[in-house]
This record gives sequence, structure tokens and C-alpha cells, in this order.
Amino acid sequence: MKSALIYAQNLAIPPLTCYINTVISPDEFRRVLGHFATGVTVVSTCDGDGRPTGLTASAFTSVSLEPPLVLVCVDHKSQSYPALLERGRFAVNVLRADQEAVSRRFATTRLDKFDGVPFRMSPLELPLLDDALAQLECLTVSTHVEGDHTILVGRVERAHLGSGEPLVYYRGRYDRLSGTSS
Ligand SMILES: Cc1cc2nc3c(=O)[nH]c(=O)nc-3n(C[C@H](O)[C@H](O)[C@H](O)COP(=O)(O)O)c2cc1C
Repeated sequence: MKSALIYAQNLAIPPLTCYINTVISPDEFRRVLGHFATGVTVVSTCDGDGRPTGLTASAFTSVSLEPPLVLVCVDHKSQSYPALLERGRFAVNVLRADQEAVSRRFATTRLDKFDGVPFRMSPLELPLLDDALAQLECLTVSTHVEGDHTILVGRVERAHLGSGEPLVYYRGRYDRLSGTSS
């Protein structure tokens, strides 16, 4: 119920003037943004019942070194959004080149995304995907509603490094640093 309220409140935020005078369509905007090559992450947390939830996200970046801060941008329409907001903590799993299937799975709205995907619960009770290139465990220090997304700023409490090559996303396709498209 609380989740639904937060969701409704965010959708109810009146558009500011700077958002009304748009000169570019969402499709064109997405196409242009697709030319910015990114890594791919799965942002994960647990809902109020302790069930792991999460989504594929490329809108991730570092914010500050001291203190160590990162941000992720989450669509208000995402099913994971209420849990990410309410839980006040999240993990960022940086995917490896061989985790394209994981990325595709977490880019759907299915509820059983974690079924069959190896993960462990961390001491901070955050779901960490096995075999990720890196994992960051964050406590949310601020949230900023901007347009149809909310920026979650997280202070990194724990960080883990794996090994391998990163999964890359460019122009709507998965790729590897070697340039081999899939
Ligand atoms: C490569 C890739 C990057 C994505 N990046 C984001 C992102 O940064 N933020 C976001 O809200 N959705 C992003 N999405 C879309 C979500 O993964 C997708 O909407 C997903 O279905 C949300 O799951 P949920 O509704 O179960 O939370 C991305 C999808 C893909 C394939």
C-alpha cells in the first residue's frame, strides 16, 4: 500500500516548465542516448517481505570518491522502484561479458527474476549476483525525482571485485570490449 502511494505521489508531481517544452521525442532521445556506450548493471535490493528484486540498469555512475558515492536512475514505472525506495539500500552488480542472459532477464518485469540465477545474500541483506565483475553495496543517502525517473544516490559500504571482461551496451545491442557483437 505504501509502495503504491509513493508511486502515485511521484506520478502526481506536476511537470515543471523546463519539462514541458520538449523538442525531441522519447524515441529519438533514446536513439541518440544509445550512442553513449555503457556498462550494464543489475541494481538489486529486497522488498518488504525480504524477497530479492532488481532491474537491469545502465544509468549508473560514480558521484564522489570521499565519501564514496554512486548514483542510479530508476524509472517510476519499474516494479523494483518501490522496494528500492523503501528499503533504503541497494546493490549494484556490474555484469560480465558472459552475463548477457542475466541482463535480458532483469530487463523484464517478471517476478521470478532471481530463480535459477546464482546469488548470495550479503551481511547487509542485499542480493549479490554470483560472477559479477564488481558488486557495490550502498545505503541510500538521498533521492531526487527528475522527470519520470528518480536518482538514488548511494554511499558505498562494501565493494567486491570479480574478474573478467565487462558486458557493454551500445546502440541497443550487447557487445564486448573486443568488439564482437551479439
Ligand atoms: C541495457 C539496459 C539498460 C537499462 N537501464 C535502465 C536504467 O538505467 N534505469 C531504469 O529504470 N531502467 C533501465 N532499463 C530498463 C529496465 O531494466 C526494465 O524496464 C525492467 O523491465 C524493469 O524491471 P522491473 O519493472 O521488474 O523493475 C534498462 C534496460 C536495458 C536492457
